[in-house]
Amino acid sequence: MALPSVYLTRRIPHRAMQALRASCGSVKVWDEEDRPVPREVLLREAAQVDGLLVMLTERVDTDLLAAAPNLKAISTMSVGYDHIDIAACKARGIAVGHTPDVLTDATADHAFALLLTAARRIPEGERYVRGGEWGPWKPDLLLGQQVSGATLGILGFGRIGQGVAARAKGFNMRLLVSGGRNVAAAATAYGAQDVGLETLLEESDFISVHVPLSTETYHLIGKRELSMMKKTAILINTARGGVIDHQALYDALKGGAIAAAALDVTEPEPINPDHPLLTLDNCLIVPHIASATYQTRERMGLLAVDNLLAALNHEPLPAEVEA
Ligand code: DGY
Repeated sequence: MALPSVYLTRRIPHRAMQALRASCGSVKVWDEEDRPVPREVLLREAAQVDGLLVMLTERVDTDLLAAAPNLKAISTMSVGYDHIDIAACKARGIAVGHTPDVLTDATADHAFALLLTAARRIPEGERYVRGGEWGPWKPDLLLGQQVSGATLGILGFGRIGQGVAARAKGFNMRLLVSGGRNVAAAATAYGAQDVGLETLLEESDFISVHVPLSTETYHLIGKRELSMMKKTAILINTARGGVIDHQALYDALKGGAIAAAALDVTEPEPINPDHPLLTLDNCLIVPHIASATYQTRERMGLLAVDNLLAALNHEPLPAEVEA
């Protein structure tokens, strides 16, 4: 039987690439670092192959599937799959793999890093020193919010939300959680209270977002929700940018409705350099790097390859999207 042909929309870590090459007849990669694969190139390449390995930047929809009559497997090097029309893939009998679990620790570490960084105003302090403004020590210089003992609201209590909870326990935080599969049982396991969205918004000092993006969660945090938070609240998002209405967030941060935000993800990505959120000292934005450790990206690459190869061999995928 001929070995399968695959197309990758990005170079993946070396070991993962070696594993793929060892089992495929042809491996083609979009190799331009500075831009994602153009749509027309992706459609043209997809038409030629048995399997696609994509990133969260590529939309896999009915048009792409229609252009790719031989496609048998899709693997995304991400845990999130909001960029893929899962129902359409299933209808075509195309298995879809993703990369859960291997990135939980790195992402939870990063969410907590953003929480601490925003709470203690680290970027402002750094700019202050670099700007030559550092004068005498003062009791009221760059005061932030106390993390230890504070209340943390975790919106979306799945794998990554639970990872954040585990870290928060070391800071003796009170935990409020809302949403996620088997949330009640998971809440009990972490000593958290399973509360409704409104209680979480009203009572949390920090709110960390971990819900997947879907039609239900699009702009889940908007003007009304922001107005329910404490004026001292800090909002952290490492999930998807579309979960938060950015105009409403800008208004809330500018007008003092909440204290600060730290975003790993924005809508769209990359955020426009002229976006008003980038003018605010109390808004920290980094470029979707929550899973970006050498170790995690290698594991993600290997799992993405294992998923693709399993699907192409008609075997069970190590991590198939369940939706
Ligand atoms: C994902 O995997 O969905 C993250 O957003 C990137 O690691």
